[in-house]
Amino acid sequence: MELTGKRIIVTGAARGMGAATVRAYVAAGAQVVAMDVNDESGTKVAAEATGPGKAQYLNVDVADKSSVVAAFAQANKLMGGIDVLAHPAAIQRASDAGEVSVEDWDLMFAVNVRGTMLTNQAAHGYMKATGGGSIINFGSISGQRAEESAAAYSASKGAVHAWTRTAAGTWGKDKVRVNAILPAMATQMYLEARERSTEEENLASYWRNLNSIALGQEYGDPDKDLGPVMVFFASDASHFITGQMVPVDGGQTNVR
Ligand SMILES: NC(=O)c1ccc[n+]([C@@H]2O[C@H](COP(=O)([O-])OP(=O)(O)OC[C@H]3O[C@@H](n4cnc5c(N)ncnc54)[C@H](O)[C@@H]3O)[C@@H](O)[C@H]2O)c1
Repeated sequence: MELTGKRIIVTGAARGMGAATVRAYVAAGAQVVAMDVNDESGTKVAAEATGPGKAQYLNVDVADKSSVVAAFAQANKLMGGIDVLAHPAAIQRASDAGEVSVEDWDLMFAVNVRGTMLTNQAAHGYMKATGGGSIINFGSISGQRAEESAAAYSASKGAVHAWTRTAAGTWGKDKVRVNAILPAMATQMYLEARERSTEEENLASYWRNLNSIALGQEYGDPDKDLGPVMVFFASDASHFITGQMVPVDGGQTNVR
């Protein structure tokens, strides 16, 4: 599970699961380029990650092709290659199926879906040139089930699942693996949403989201519960796994 010598890009690195992934990779000995739109937090996360590996920070807007192409080219130059892309960057906005606006729909698809295509495409080009690699996308239980309060987000994550299968099928010949993690983690975003909610809303959320988490009826900790899985998917130990949707959620859902 050692990542010594691995050259890794992590998007969405300024907070949440991206930040935990940067810490896990640096602790496992990897060279990391952490990327985000939030430069202040992203720089801090990269600087504070504790070695033996090390992390640097670059700005990227994953929805923007020229930004992705430039940032990945710079990361490739800084590290001398790209072996792994971990891609948690995404946004979530509430939306109702009957009322979702074109603006919200397009925003979520630009960041979550186009952002996945652009970052994966850029990484694939560098990985193919050096004999292969591992791409780790982020899907969601929201892409698997009806989401009354998150219509556009749910559709965007369903698209990430479909893309992940197709990219894995297409790029297997280049030894580029593509999988997606479906997490249930208590990140800042989740904790803030819970604080904003009424007791009644939190009770409804318990029955919808937490009750089925067999391992303790609570979301996981990104550093303790996700970090080691991200190391596994970046490492050669996972070399024969591709095209999979992998729930890391304490048993909240299963994927058939
Ligand atoms: N928290 C959960 O339990 C949960 C459940 C299911 C799926 N997910 C998915 O897991 C992933 C990580 O979630 P999180 O809770 O850590 O999210 P988060 O909101 O804490 O972090 C997302 C990061 O992405 C960055 N980002 C947003 N737009 C960007 C852009 N255009 N370009 C570059 N960076 C951008 C943000 O600045 C932020 O740092 C996301 O894909 C999310 O949809 C989370």
